[in-house]
Formats: sequence, C-alpha cells, structure tokens
Amino acid sequence: MNYLIITLRIIHILAGIIWVGGTLIMTFFIAPTIRATAEAGQKFIGHLMNNLKFSNWIAAAAGLSILAGLALFWIDSNGFTSAWMDSGAGIGFRRGAELATIGFVFGLLIGRTTKAMAKLGAQFQGPPSPEQMAQMQKLGRQQKIYSMIASLTLILAVIYMSIARYLVL
Ligand code: HEM
Repeated sequence: MNYLIITLRIIHILAGIIWVGGTLIMTFFIAPTIRATAEAGQKFIGHLMNNLKFSNWIAAAAGLSILAGLALFWIDSNGFTSAWMDSGAGIGFRRGAELATIGFVFGLLIGRTTKAMAKLGAQFQGPPSPEQMAQMQKLGRQQKIYSMIASLTLILAVIYMSIARYLVL
C-alpha cells in the first residue's frame, strides 16, 4: 500500500469538500439570508466571521487541499517532467487545478468583503444611516459577484477532478 498517496488523497479530497461545500453554502444560502434579514443578518454575520472565523477555516481547508493536490500532481508527473502531463488525465487535473486556483482567489475576495460587511455592521447603532446602508449594499453586490465566480469555477474544478482520470484527448 502507498501510504503517502493515501494520506495525501484523504487530505486533498476531505479539505476540498469542506472548501467547495463551504463556498457553495455561503453563496446560495448564507449570503442571501444575510442580505434579506437586514439588522439581524448583521449580527449573524458578525458572529460567523469574528467569533467562529468562518472564512479563515475555509481558507485553511482550501490551502490544505491545494498543497496536497500539488503534491499529488508532483508525484503523478514525476516532478512535472513525465509524459503523463500531456495525457488526458494530466491535462484534466491541470485544468481542474487552474479553475480551483481562480476559485481560491475569488474565495479570498469573498472573505475580505464579508469581513468588511461584518465590521461595518458592528458600527451600526440602531438603524443604519443612508451612507452606511449604501456602503453595505455596495459590499453586498461585490460579495455576490465574487461568490458567483468562485462557485462556478469551483464546480467546474470538481467536474474536471472527477473525470480527469478517464479523459482521452
Ligand atoms: C489547485 C487545486 C488542486 C490541485 C493541484 C489538484 C490536483 C489533483 C491531482 C494531481 C489529483 C490526482 C491524484 C491521484 O493521482 O491520486 C487529484 C484528484 C482529485 N481531486 Fe484534486 N486538485 C485540486 C483541487 C481540487 C478540488 C477543489 C477538489 C474538490 C473536492 C478536488 C477533488 C479531487 C478528487 C475527488 C480527486 C480524485 C479523482 C480520482 O481519483 O479520479 N481537487 N487532484
């Protein structure tokens, strides 16, 4: 048994599930709920980001999955040198990794925007002023765009990862 590959695969896939799952749940369930629930939503997001450190956990899972994925790619490609790199599988895993990297960058932007929303929400004393409201709406729109891009690229990355081994190009 190859214990190194098994360990890397468990880390890669488990952390990948947490990363992609967390991003999709944030995009399609949590963020719309925050936007729809005004002041209550601000409290919720403050707890999620400041106390539970949601985006830090997702970023850590993403980092782990990427590192383990790169190690697996290094092993499969014999240090990025073998003909496997240009096979269907090699190209498929590479496309998946590229898409996942784009998803990772946009995920970082989601985290930054959501933290900014939590910080702004914490400044509200009673109902927000029109300026605070406008700023919050601007952040909300940014968060929506980043989330859609991250979700789409991560879904495509997972599709590539799932089929890469069987691709004949
Ligand atoms: C930069 C990011 C990524 C890199 C470099 C990468 C790289 C790789 C590599 C090289 C393999 C083949 C492993 C082997 O030979 O055993 C693999 C498999 C796999 N990856 Fe990724 N990956 C990335 C992102 C992701 C993400 C976001 C997911 C989502 C959960 C994911 C899910 C999987 C799965 C399920 C497999 C197993 C596929 C199979 O056995 O046919 N990967 N990945």
